[in-house]
Amino acid sequence: KFTQLAQTPPMGWNSWNKFACDVDEQKIREVADAMAANGMKAAGYEYIVIDDCWHGTRDTLGFIRPDAKRFPSGMKALVDYVHGKGLKFGIYSDAGSKTCGGRPGSRGHEYQDATTYAQWGVDYLKYDWCATEGLKAEGAYTTMRDALGRAGHPVVFSMCEWGTAKPWLWAQNVGHLWRTTGDIYNCWDCLHDNGGDSKSYGVLRIVDMQDGLRQYAGPSHWNDPDMLEVGNGKLTPGEDRAHFAMWCMLAAPLIAGNDLRQMNPQTLKLLTNKDLIAVDQDPLGVQGFRLTTKDSVDTWVKPLADGDWAVCFLNRAKGPRAATFDWQTQPVHDEVAKRDLNAGRTRYKIRNLATGQAQGTTAKPFRAPVPGHDVVMLRLTN
Ligand code: DGJ
Repeated sequence: KFTQLAQTPPMGWNSWNKFACDVDEQKIREVADAMAANGMKAAGYEYIVIDDCWHGTRDTLGFIRPDAKRFPSGMKALVDYVHGKGLKFGIYSDAGSKTCGGRPGSRGHEYQDATTYAQWGVDYLKYDWCATEGLKAEGAYTTMRDALGRAGHPVVFSMCEWGTAKPWLWAQNVGHLWRTTGDIYNCWDCLHDNGGDSKSYGVLRIVDMQDGLRQYAGPSHWNDPDMLEVGNGKLTPGEDRAHFAMWCMLAAPLIAGNDLRQMNPQTLKLLTNKDLIAVDQDPLGVQGFRLTTKDSVDTWVKPLADGDWAVCFLNRAKGPRAATFDWQTQPVHDEVAKRDLNAGRTRYKIRNLATGQAQGTTAKPFRAPVPGHDVVMLRLTN
């Protein structure tokens, strides 16, 4: 059943951010080996997703085949390998006639492709939106959802139409997650022009583009602010931390996009931070929201199960700032969760999620330094 999947935001890895079209079976096996062995699987990462460019041509009957040079063992063998590691397998296609990388798209082959994926044992499909002239997103994504349902193998359906048709308004029963923006760009606050109408966005810009969308997200229907750039070498360690922490505050899918075969210990530590992941994967499934912005510091809050709250101070500026919060005087009401942070009446224990240290209670105003382009993230326990 559709709603039995993705009850918390999907976690996994996708080839695109690091490797783009340079994918082959050996690399995918090695990444699966790494995820199974390095603690990521234990931390909750589950899906190994091959993005664009795995495709060869269709056969004479129209069945899609992988690129025979890059995937000589065939896709079924690769899926079996990933399953053998206790992980799940994801693949990529496109609603149009061609993928963004110019490979065969699924237009006119939706049921056939869904059947092929089911035969291979595919558990996750990312479905892109290039070469879709004349198609309407709602119809095209609904067709593929129905095809996947008919094929019978449970598949998490990841919609990638960049928010152009406002999928949050209609896709709750169509996709388990939908991109809300154009692609992420591996920078803190830039706007990258890809030519045509296409733009990519730095971390802060993606965060700001989530405003107004949180009411549409919840178990098995998540807003997707795109895959992680953590560990891809452009962001500073503080920026990586802020990027990951904010994705957790947003209840975003946590799809790592770095080379898992060779990452430094800090990157692995961040990607497997249990306390941050627990905020992302919290069973209440409510996306966080921005309460205030003062002197370049955003204060974000996210209601959690059992009356807990996550609080994240995001320093947007390059220089250091102070995070301050007077729990007794600042009212916090969440329209979506219909719940108040009652720090005036309830005394919450504060835990700093970067250090794991207890940091007093909400009886006293909170004050802590936040380095430039970084976060301080807390969990308030009732
Ligand atoms: C556009 C998507 O937004 C990206 O995430 C990636 O899948 C590329 N297409 C692949 O061509």
